Amino acid sequence: MLLLLTDRPDRNIALAQLLEQIAPCRVSTVQGRFPGRIEAPLGLVADIDLLQPAAARSLRTLRAAAGGARTPLICLMRSMGERSLAEARSLGAELCLPGDTPVRTVAQAVLAHLRPAPVGIEAVVARSAVETGTVITGLLDAVRNGEAVQLAAVDEGLTPVLTAVETGGLDRWLATVRSYDDATYQHCLLVTGLAATFAIDLGFSERDRHQIVRAALVHDVGKARIPLDILNKPGRLGPAEQAVMRSHAAVGHRILVEAGGFDALTLDVVRHHHEALDGSGYPDGLAGSAVSDPVRLVTICDIYAALVESRPYRVPMPSGQAVDVLLGMPDKLDMALVQAFARSVSGT
Ligand SMILES: [Fe+2]
Ligand SMILES: [Fe+2]
Repeated sequence: MLLLLTDRPDRNIALAQLLEQIAPCRVSTVQGRFPGRIEAPLGLVADIDLLQPAAARSLRTLRAAAGGARTPLICLMRSMGERSLAEARSLGAELCLPGDTPVRTVAQAVLAHLRPAPVGIEAVVARSAVETGTVITGLLDAVRNGEAVQLAAVDEGLTPVLTAVETGGLDRWLATVRSYDDATYQHCLLVTGLAATFAIDLGFSERDRHQIVRAALVHDVGKARIPLDILNKPGRLGPAEQAVMRSHAAVGHRILVEAGGFDALTLDVVRHHHEALDGSGYPDGLAGSAVSDPVRLVTICDIYAALVESRPYRVPMPSGQAVDVLLGMPDKLDMALVQAFARSVSGT
């Protein structure tokens, strides 16, 4: 179990949800009453104002009930000033992070400090989802902030997802990442996990697996430049909005060309993952053999992911039904690949 002590529970919902991916998370407020002894929690995260005596007292009480110094303590700081840091140290904090640290970075820091390290397949998958997710967040944030995209940073997300689907299976990966609220984030993780599974099941070499997973991970990087009111609109997009949305393929391609270092396969997938074999796709209206095999593969993963995604306003489509949708697109998709994909997602 993980413990989260907070004096602003309304602002910690996303963090608590993410910590739940690592281990069951109990949230306590500084005003709340603690249960007696808490058996060997994996770690304690405190998001409180340490300079408030009542808050610091709550933390001492909770820590004593939760195994004392044996339980790693991570403090999210309201201030990184000397007084606050000294207070955190006196409480035994192993790590102090600024209070506005992104929740995924906090979760990753928690994973790195857990004692004992969680074991088992669930933990491997949860850890990998946070690691690959952190790469995706970093990528989208860099583009939104006008910073350069780093190939080396992207590549840090490849091995975790391949390990997760290989050891934990696709279904665990899907269940883990479908609990994330942010639609683009969830979608990118789904497509990456599907592409990793498909590449493994197709018998790709390690080098080819990495290439296809890299392409899947960055395939929608251009969405970081789409206004959020269009990107997250729940209903149908109007023609003008749709044109803006569709620009993400060419925009993403340009971002990676300008970043430099990305291989031709990745650039091809980013630009063309909305092309169709009958020439009805975008942005270039490619048809038939002009649509490369890697593009065909990621396009199938992309459409399937969009169908099985979890959204607040609709239930996810069951896998079998989503495969039927793919099978109903013989003019647009490579049917031999769709058949192989169907076997891959059904685990046969
Ligand atoms: Fe896309
Ligand atoms: Fe996509």
